[in-house]
Amino acid sequence: DRNLKIAPSILSADFANFGAEIEAVEAQGADWIHVDVMDGHFVPNLTFGPPLVKAIRKHIKTVMDVHLMIAPVDPYIDAFADAGADVLTAHLEAGPHIHRTLQAIRGAGCKAGLALNPGTPIDAVDHLLDMVDLICVMTVNPGFGGQKFIHSQIAKVEKLRAMIGDRPIHIEIDGGITPETAPLMRAAGADVLVAGSAVFKGGSVADPAPYGANIRAI
Ligand code: DX5
Ligand code: ZN
Repeated sequence: DRNLKIAPSILSADFANFGAEIEAVEAQGADWIHVDVMDGHFVPNLTFGPPLVKAIRKHIKTVMDVHLMIAPVDPYIDAFADAGADVLTAHLEAGPHIHRTLQAIRGAGCKAGLALNPGTPIDAVDHLLDMVDLICVMTVNPGFGGQKFIHSQIAKVEKLRAMIGDRPIHIEIDGGITPETAPLMRAAGADVLVAGSAVFKGGSVADPAPYGANIRAI
């Protein structure tokens, strides 16, 4: 089922070699590139900001999928849009005005993504369905790669699939995706799977073939 998109997260790539890592993983079959922005405040980890995102954009031929784990979001929307984000995803939990944030993301010319932490009920997206192009269901608590998949999110994704109906909204899953958990998420209705550690394990820029094998195994 190649309607399924695999979006490797560069959080598990070599941070000193992002350009080459992105080119390698795209050559090995990645559909999108997932870029995790963390602020050390909304989540307990720090990654990078708009200048780095802009610098890696020219190495991406597919889709740059930027996952903002930052609060507040609104002051940075234009900077990430200018950096070349195709999809710009904000967390529902990142502030009191997610409706305004999603409007601003589309207004800046990006596809609007809405991410939900594992503890957030799916009903929270009910009044936002006409404002989003993607809903990201977190299957780990955001902040780190390589964490264990949270199985309670399967029922949540099934419910979301039913809520979406025939609207053109991607269901993206982020966290703990492996060859074991990916089929559960496909069956539940997801069409974009983010995978960090499961894609980058065993490979390198010098030896990228494992990236391809890992992608195909998902
Ligand atoms: C977690 C990030 C994820 C992370 C996934 O906070 O949003 O994108 O890179 O890593 P894995 O696939 O290793 O769980
Ligand atoms: Zn992510």
